[in-house]
Amino acid sequence: MTPVKDVFIAVIGAGGVGKAFLSQLEGLSQRLATQSSSRKLSVILVSRSTKTLYSPQYSPLPFDNLSTKLADSTQQTLSLTEVIDFLAAAPAKSILIDNTSSQDVADQYPQVLAKGISIVTPNKKAFSGSFKLWQDIFSSAAASGAKVYHESSVGAGLPVISTLKDLVETGDEVTKIEGVFSGTMSFLFNSFAPTEGSGGKWSAEVTKAKELGYTEPDPRDDLNGLDVARKLTILARLAGLPVESPTSFPVQSLIPKELESVASGDEFLQKLPEFDSQMEDLKNAAEKEGKVIRFVGSIDVAKKVVKVGLEKFDRSHPIAALKGSDNIISFTTKRYASPLIIQGAGAGGDVTAAGVTGDLIKVLERL
Ligand SMILES: NC(=O)c1ccc[n+]([C@@H]2O[C@H](COP(=O)([O-])OP(=O)(O)OC[C@H]3O[C@@H](n4cnc5c(N)ncnc54)[C@H](OP(=O)(O)O)[C@@H]3O)[C@@H](O)[C@H]2O)c1
Repeated sequence: MTPVKDVFIAVIGAGGVGKAFLSQLEGLSQRLATQSSSRKLSVILVSRSTKTLYSPQYSPLPFDNLSTKLADSTQQTLSLTEVIDFLAAAPAKSILIDNTSSQDVADQYPQVLAKGISIVTPNKKAFSGSFKLWQDIFSSAAASGAKVYHESSVGAGLPVISTLKDLVETGDEVTKIEGVFSGTMSFLFNSFAPTEGSGGKWSAEVTKAKELGYTEPDPRDDLNGLDVARKLTILARLAGLPVESPTSFPVQSLIPKELESVASGDEFLQKLPEFDSQMEDLKNAAEKEGKVIRFVGSIDVAKKVVKVGLEKFDRSHPIAALKGSDNIISFTTKRYASPLIIQGAGAGGDVTAAGVTGDLIKVLERL
């Protein structure tokens, strides 16, 4: 019989995704135990920005009420460097799950991987920051043999990154990637410019989206297009384009110039109705051609052109016909001249965590 090997897990971040992940991790750990797997998962650390709960002797933390116990923890908060040292000293292989959106954590990935600690994360920051950080991450992983997986950094749990990697690694030639990559933008345009009916005023739709919890606390953080630009940066790099940063290609911001510097998100929403005519004009111009506007990202691999912004689509186009806050990503390749399309929920704790758990299973198979 194959001897059972311990694998130590540290989970940083216990928000919407982190909590859903901890619950899925408990299920995975139980399934591995009943399937007589050769792996035994031991969670030895969970943390959030101001709290750490960990097991100094590397004995597993019990799963029950882990996030409540973390909130109540009186243990000294460990710095990121201390967390890395703690994992590096573990008596077996260890995996860091980064469920934060922290740039500081992302910047440490090369050091984490260099110490043989694998990383699984939905955090976009490391893979969409500078191209140097991207190169350092993958060269560090190659040198140490540690693994790094980030499926949920684009399209939440949808199999976008794994599909693109498979296309590239099997020798297909990806010519174009196009889609709606933001649940917030999807929701906004599906309600502002629906394929049937007339839709509401732009400012009213933004306010509604905020009230429903679909936007960031300050909606400008969605409307500036940067989140989509980050996702495009990741996909373009995987398709072989050495994109320098998410600000190195054209990104259309939907924030009126005059409102870029207003002090708060609330003031922005208050003043946004004054600019409704700008979006209304664009909607009407598309309508005259029998089309609707959508906020999309596209990568033309052959021409090396990456861009993010508004485009017009026929009402019958799959991008126009999207519903709710769904994402859609289409890959045109040499083999898939008629595009390969992935569509579904592109946000939400459970689906995003499922992408993280799926990646963890891949790492466990490869360690
Ligand atoms: N939610 C989605 O639908 C979705 C979809 C795709 C990708 N993602 C990605 O998934 C990640 C998590 O998203 P979320 O919605 O769960 O965010 P969230 O609810 O804001 O939770 C973030 C968690 O990270 C913790 N944190 C932040 N900085 C930290 C640090 N330096 N050290 C330790 N903990 C830190 C926070 O601590 P406190 O609790 O103390 O504040 C919080 O527990 C993000 O990268 C996001 O972009 C989310």
